[in-house]
Amino acid sequence: MPYKLLFVCLGNICRSPAAENIMNHLIEQAGYSKQIVCDSAGTSSYHIGSPPDRRMSAAAAKKLQIKLKGQARQFRKSDFQEFDLILAMDRDNYDNILSVDSTGVYHDKVRLMCDFCSKYTLKEVPDPYYGGPEGFNQVIDLLVDACDGLLKHICG
Ligand code: 4NP
Repeated sequence: MPYKLLFVCLGNICRSPAAENIMNHLIEQAGYSKQIVCDSAGTSSYHIGSPPDRRMSAAAAKKLQIKLKGQARQFRKSDFQEFDLILAMDRDNYDNILSVDSTGVYHDKVRLMCDFCSKYTLKEVPDPYYGGPEGFNQVIDLLVDACDGLLKHICG
């Protein structure tokens, strides 16, 4: 059984699809594609069915030469059973995920993405949606740092 990761943001069109695709890129490079699988979701229903935001895709192409694949979906209660680790991009995402777990049994499966950063000290992945291109570039750099740490956390 592979280890299953779920990346979660608000819309599932910017930060979490970028995290999912960057993590898949690192997993492939490390040769762990059979051992670790990734998905992403949004806490909101705003963009269900949409592909990743073109500004996020442009930043990923420019900085990492990767294409962002995916179609937005909403986080659902069954994700708690389905996934081994759920990574929230910011504290609002974290609180909204935990609010779906009324009993608290899945509390330990949910972590903030920036807990795995080693180069950056930011505690949250900033929402780039209403800002300029630099915000999207910064999200990529931060996510590469967090995904590196996450891979080390899982694989040792
Ligand atoms: P994401 O970014 O949560 O990183 O996908 C956003 C996408 C859409 C909105 C906000 C943030 N929105 O308000 O529609």
